[in-house]
Amino acid sequence: METLRLHRLEKIILYTLKQLNKPSTFGEVAEKAYQLFSGVAGEDAEAIRSPSAVAKACGWLQSKGLVSIEEKVVSKTLTIGAEGIEYARNGLPERRLVESLKLRGGSAGISVLSQEMPSLAIALNWAKRNGWVEIGKDEGGETVVRLTGEIPSKTPAEELLDILMLDGGVDMKDLDDRLRKAAEELLKRQNVVKLAERREHIISLTDEGLRIASELALLQPAEIFKEVTKLTPELLLTGRWREVTLSSYDVKAPVPPVFSAKRHPLTQLIRLVKQAYTEMGFEEIKGPIVELAFWNFDALFQPQDHPAREMQDTFYIDTEERGVPPRQYVNFVKAVHEHGGGTGSRGWGYKWSEEEASRLILRTHTTATTIRHLAAVRKPPIKVFSVDRIYRNEKVDWKHLAEFHQIEGIVVDERANFRQLMGVIKEFYSRLGLRQVRFRPSYFPYTEPSAEVEVFLAGKWLELGGMGIFRPETTHPLGVKHPVLAWGLGLERLAMIIYGVEDIRTFTRNDLNWLRRTSPFKAYETSGRVSRKD
Ligand code: PHE
Repeated sequence: METLRLHRLEKIILYTLKQLNKPSTFGEVAEKAYQLFSGVAGEDAEAIRSPSAVAKACGWLQSKGLVSIEEKVVSKTLTIGAEGIEYARNGLPERRLVESLKLRGGSAGISVLSQEMPSLAIALNWAKRNGWVEIGKDEGGETVVRLTGEIPSKTPAEELLDILMLDGGVDMKDLDDRLRKAAEELLKRQNVVKLAERREHIISLTDEGLRIASELALLQPAEIFKEVTKLTPELLLTGRWREVTLSSYDVKAPVPPVFSAKRHPLTQLIRLVKQAYTEMGFEEIKGPIVELAFWNFDALFQPQDHPAREMQDTFYIDTEERGVPPRQYVNFVKAVHEHGGGTGSRGWGYKWSEEEASRLILRTHTTATTIRHLAAVRKPPIKVFSVDRIYRNEKVDWKHLAEFHQIEGIVVDERANFRQLMGVIKEFYSRLGLRQVRFRPSYFPYTEPSAEVEVFLAGKWLELGGMGIFRPETTHPLGVKHPVLAWGLGLERLAMIIYGVEDIRTFTRNDLNWLRRTSPFKAYETSGRVSRKD
């Protein structure tokens, strides 16, 4: 039977409405339910009588289509407002105007009146409407106000104000036509009278509600009430749970959202990135955050006076301590910088300083990590990636962070070429659901050819990183003989688009609301910008 899905209180209300046999108010239902059920309800009896409990249960029943609730204005009470009290005591402005005109023999100039009456405009307006005065000019051209016609000693509005002063409030129903019209007029004036509406809710059974109520009507109140909504230790200990009817759970009822623990959106994206690379046969590598300038710059054939090395761009560790560039490469790197070192290049043509290469910095790109790995392994096959943190001395704003992530990788293979490099990058993005990728010629000191990677996202081409094939000036000093494909891509910029974030600082702000509603899968589903590859 469907009634099983109803809460006890809902059943009580359906039952009661059936007994009442007419649309009824919350109060009436509560009262009748109390009559019917108090005998069997024990200590719950008072709860049945509470109109607010009844109202709540009626709300549930309404959403299930078993009752309909109609709101009705049952009474309108007129009371006097602050201005009304003033008028009742000292007269309406139009009455005061008339009195003043009478004292002056029936007419007066506007200038005299306005000095006497602060609310002259209101007074004139209503006196004219009532047909008590007319406005004209005297011989001198001044505007004058003259009494005209019959003026009753008391208007219905004035009567009404008197009544309200005496009685406090009157029901609109109790007013005769004359006074009701006066009330409507007064309601148009500010703060003179007020209308308080009392509303009532009338509940009636729908057809479906009536059907279920009729089934319930076959039961005794005790049978309906014996249903237990809470299993208590007492019920268990006494064994009484065997006799009672336990109400069933509605497992489809809406529940408050649960915010379970989950990974940070950026971490989730990093995991997707790592998954994409591992699926493509790459291995992850790690490198130090505090890096030798040697690996971050020198080994990458960046001259020592390169602007990127300056304090504004690079965080130098604030210490006299120096690192030790690996002995076996120092002379080769020095030679390459100074004159090309037999690579066919002319180098940069300056005096290379080992001291400068020994400085400790926070790595400014993860290419420092891949070049280290390259030096250690040297020979193909190498297919490695890293997704890691890098540091740049940037002023933090909506577009920049000083600490962010790069997605880096290299492939070393005897026959590796630029076309394969483009293929690897395209494949990587397509695994994230991004299929439109293009390359533009670019420049890096350590690659040739070099390109910029652009991805079509959210309606525009977004520059996401750089790539290229390491120059001999980079590979030769390390003893690497095969072509090295290399790339470094931004993570946060990609994340901003995927998550629809306009301010890059969102990722580090720990805004719980944002964290709770954000997940990459949701972003993929709802943004419509990127569609995930299954
Ligand atoms: N290191 C470059 C950057 O930080 C990206 C890059 C990596 C370019 C490898 C070419 C090769 O922008």
